[in-house]
Amino acid sequence: MTSDPVIADLLALEADASLLEEEALGERVEALEQLAFIYQVFQARGKAAQAYGARAAALRARLEAVNARYFGRVRHWMRQDQVFGEPVRALLGRYSRYGQPDDSALHMDYEPADALVDGVLELDAFAGSPSVEHPDIVHLEDTPVRVLLDLVDHVPLEQGDCFCDLGAGLGRAAIVVHWLTGAPACGIEIQPDYHAFSRRLAASFGLDQVTFVLADAREADLSAGTVFYLFTPFKGRILRAVLDRLRARAQQGPITVCTYGAVSLIVAQEPWLQAVAGGKPHEFALEIWRSA
Ligand SMILES: C[S@@+](CC[C@H](N)C(=O)[O-])C[C@H]1O[C@@H](n2cnc3c(N)ncnc32)[C@H](O)[C@@H]1O
Repeated sequence: MTSDPVIADLLALEADASLLEEEALGERVEALEQLAFIYQVFQARGKAAQAYGARAAALRARLEAVNARYFGRVRHWMRQDQVFGEPVRALLGRYSRYGQPDDSALHMDYEPADALVDGVLELDAFAGSPSVEHPDIVHLEDTPVRVLLDLVDHVPLEQGDCFCDLGAGLGRAAIVVHWLTGAPACGIEIQPDYHAFSRRLAASFGLDQVTFVLADAREADLSAGTVFYLFTPFKGRILRAVLDRLRARAQQGPITVCTYGAVSLIVAQEPWLQAVAGGKPHEFALEIWRSA
């Protein structure tokens, strides 16, 4: 027994064998966050706490190794069996609070489902960097998985559709939506390193219905898209130009536009788009619009 609460927390985590069960990802993600804090406290205490710091680091390495094994197993399953739809939905839903009775409609946080997707896709192997600069380009940030679960729940996506991620980053959102629905998906990205990574990723999973195009969204061919997704990829003049192109695309046939982040507040002012849910748009909600 110890009266030091931080040491007590470390001992409790060390004793919790359930954290080593591969599928206890939610608990492990929480434990790893707690361990990061514990480790910092021991570091701040200096030499006297060095041995506890080393124990915290060793436990972190053990838990990360279990994560790596679990992600590897899921990766193998996705590659081998080409899994789509319900099984993927069940797996991601298990590690997200999205849709639970006391859950909020707002998507504020990353969850264990995000750690799972990042791990399966091995996104930390990305070693490139953005090279195209423009004041209206927004830097890379991933959509929380719970936003994508919300999207596939509320937007029908079938074989005849094409989900088009405008500003696709490393390809994560397009790949996850394809896994969740089986519908074709494409991503348009301006940064060559991001685009190259996303193409390799889709190929490594044998996803021939997921395509990535290296282009400025102002100039890319948007004709195949039926459902367009924007997680605040750009602002200002670029956004204006892309919205005008989407409006022109909508004249060829109805489209759905989904937005997440600050971009929703601008899209709300487009007279040719109607909000499916009505009401005031929120930065942290998934907003869905249909062309009039
Ligand atoms: C906030 S991230 C979104 C990433 C991804 N769509 C997701 O939701 O996980 C924005 C992405 O848009 C890209 N981007 C910015 N301006 C662009 C443009 N004009 N054309 C294509 N992509 C652009 C950025 O390089 C970045 O990868």
